[in-house]
Amino acid sequence: MTAKHRFPSTTPVQNIWSMRWLGAVVLALAGLACGEKSDSEPLTVKAEDGTDLPLRETTPELQARFKEGDALFDFTYNESDGLGPLYIRAACSSCHQSAGKGPGAVQKMAVVEPDGVTSSEDQSALAWGHTVRPYKTAGATQTIQAPGSAQNVKLSLRVGPAVFGRGYLEAIADSEIERMQAEQSTRTDGIHGRVNRVTYHSQPNPEQPFHTHQPGQGNLIGRFGVKARISTLDEFTADAMQGDMGITSPMRPAEPANPDGLTDDGKPGTDVDLARVNAVADYMRLLEIPKRATPGADGPRLFAEARCSVCHVPSLQTRSDYPLAPLAGRDAPVYSDLLLHDMGTGLADGMVDESATSREWRTAPLIGLRFFTTYLHDGRAKTLREAVLAHQGPGSEANDSLSRFQQLSSSEQSALLDFVSSL
Ligand code: HEC
Ligand code: HEC
Repeated sequence: MTAKHRFPSTTPVQNIWSMRWLGAVVLALAGLACGEKSDSEPLTVKAEDGTDLPLRETTPELQARFKEGDALFDFTYNESDGLGPLYIRAACSSCHQSAGKGPGAVQKMAVVEPDGVTSSEDQSALAWGHTVRPYKTAGATQTIQAPGSAQNVKLSLRVGPAVFGRGYLEAIADSEIERMQAEQSTRTDGIHGRVNRVTYHSQPNPEQPFHTHQPGQGNLIGRFGVKARISTLDEFTADAMQGDMGITSPMRPAEPANPDGLTDDGKPGTDVDLARVNAVADYMRLLEIPKRATPGADGPRLFAEARCSVCHVPSLQTRSDYPLAPLAGRDAPVYSDLLLHDMGTGLADGMVDESATSREWRTAPLIGLRFFTTYLHDGRAKTLREAVLAHQGPGSEANDSLSRFQQLSSSEQSALLDFVSSL
């Protein structure tokens, strides 16, 4: 463990930008997306556009770091690398292709009450946990499959969400997320998101500078995962390595429980070191939000009129002390409040994640949606319109917003959806 994964807090971004200011300002004006960037942060418009690009404000050092993590993100593990004993996929990129959404997914299982929605107290029927692990290696003889005919077990899918723009999500100040919660608590239209307070589960890691609280204190704001169950990208990386691939690390040292009772795999001991976890996390921190087109006036206006913007908040402010200089103290145009919302019974999955219930979901960040082929946590929606309509249902906080959407003329609805697809 060295401080290798730290970014120099003195990255001379300001100097670079003051020199390039004149040239960049023209491009910046062309690239402004609905005014969420402040004048002091010029945006260079790249000729190429895509999902797997590093932050625009970059340095050779950050570029090299990005490339290093990118290769590890695409790396396919095999038995001798510590894959298994059970696993779902063998590479991060199988479920986050080009840092985007899917195609790989995880199947979840939860014991539910007779209403088919509420998670039961007693989950003991699922002896090996809530996750289907369909592949085996390294001496395992049995996989973890969904129970065949148990009626009280609800099955649901989680498609790997996009991972680009996640550095911005991590950098957002806690006070901003709490401000959203406070502002929504006084609303009368049913929207009342809340923070998912989570425990930092990892071994203490004093070298990990990307959270505001010290490990072990618990009580961080969850930001990552479809129910905001994890607070930092390092911890998510370690969690994904362990849970999806059976790759253990100092932050997640144990193999997931399995029917064979195996506690190790083809690579004795911990499979990867902390430096590797940090490198993958840094790659995701450095992934840029795909370039946005300049919106017409109507889209943003209708998006606000239909109150989409109450949950999908266009921009939040990042911490000024975030260790990665290009993301510190700036607007994060992520179109999410990072809060949990009760989306009703229609989207419920029976799963509890930290304090999040079956019906609660983190407001999906609206980033790079034009690169998706399916929407919502389980990919059930094949078009943006279907995704929006699925917000409506018994008990959903978004019902008022959805009535407003439906009251728009069909051309207004199209303008709104065009705007969303440009994000
Ligand atoms: C089998 C498919 C699969 C694999 C392999 C996989 N992921 Fe994921 N990933 C998912 C799913 C599904 C979620 C949502 C999970 C949740 O909310 O609990 C997710 C969520 C995430 C998130 C949170 C994104 C957000 O918007 O909050 C990050 C970051 C992430 N994965 C990184 C990784 C990394 C790094 C690897 C490799 C070490 C990896 N994933 C491997 C399926 C996968
Ligand atoms: C009460 C808060 C709330 C409101 C209001 C709201 N959304 Fe959402 N939105 C969410 C949540 C939570 C999700 C994630 C749901 C899931 O994955 O099951 C989501 C998901 C989405 C998605 C899918 C994104 C993806 O990654 O697949 C789109 C598109 C979307 N919302 C657009 C809209 C639009 C357009 C409006 C206004 C008509 C709107 N939302 C209003 C909370 C809200």
